[in-house]
Amino acid sequence: TVLAAVTAKKGTFHFGSTYDTFDADQSWFDGVFSTFYRHVVAENGCKWDATEPSQGVSSLTECVGAQSFANQFGNTFRGHNTFWHSQTPSWLPGSFSASQVVGTIIPQHVQAEIQGMGASVTSWDVVNENKGDWPTVTSDGSGVPLVTDLSFIFAAFKTAFQFAGANTRLAVNDYNTGGAEAKTACVINLIKSIQANTTIPFNRRSHLTASTGGFDSKSALASTFSTLSALGVSAMITEMDIEVNANTTPNLRYQAAIWGDYLDACLFASNCFEFINWDPRDDLSWRGSAAAATLFDTNGNPKPAAYEVAARL
Ligand code: XIL
Repeated sequence: TVLAAVTAKKGTFHFGSTYDTFDADQSWFDGVFSTFYRHVVAENGCKWDATEPSQGVSSLTECVGAQSFANQFGNTFRGHNTFWHSQTPSWLPGSFSASQVVGTIIPQHVQAEIQGMGASVTSWDVVNENKGDWPTVTSDGSGVPLVTDLSFIFAAFKTAFQFAGANTRLAVNDYNTGGAEAKTACVINLIKSIQANTTIPFNRRSHLTASTGGFDSKSALASTFSTLSALGVSAMITEMDIEVNANTTPNLRYQAAIWGDYLDACLFASNCFEFINWDPRDDLSWRGSAAAATLFDTNGNPKPAAYEVAARL
């Protein structure tokens, strides 16, 4: 039954990675996205600083560039992100009142971006990382305040729902979530609160899990995915990377096993359709090449984890 369910999902399962229009080694990217990956997310090109550099002026060139790259190979494209405390344009934060933010700044930005990118976007990270490292913190550690005002989040979701394609999943994206971590429950509470405070139908909301911290077991992930399913919410793995300490064979095997577990958990769940690697190769990883956190080595050659993944797709 599990294998039948997995087979039935082929075609609707989106496995992909990040891309920036200015990434080095374009021919390697062309190769890997035409053969291995089937799904693209802009690593930076759809963030607020790139898409609204001057207030009220929508600039989707970088974001569209990443989407065109996806289309070139018949790949699908997901949106990251409309709303985050980081990588904001220099005019934001400014001296705006909360009612200006809720009434004008968020709706204007979210509408311009989501409408501008079109209905084929599979999912949007409407709100990104608003929880920080712990459920109760209000700053990102460097003093930048996190978005804790729920009215901002509700405003972003309401606008996103109004302008997104009929099949586009709308997501809350956060790291160190997925299994039994305190933050998972915290994000699930946020989802419930969005459900209670907006008129978006259940099946149009999503919870994205981003694994950039400790690793969750397959069963812990499965348990979270089914909790979400009971809420009528889908799950995604959005920013997968697995840091290893040294580039040794045993560590690379361990890394491959973890990668396999995460992919299994998503493939076997009835509500998980997107799986994204944050950076496709070690030398381009935001974790730094010493972390060896991705599927391909610094020469662009597949590591054991890439074979592990390929065997499942
Ligand atoms: C990172 C990019 O990979 C870097 O190139 C950029 O300098 C900083 O942002 N969580 C997220 C992503 O949601 O947007 C971040 O991407 C990595 C952490």
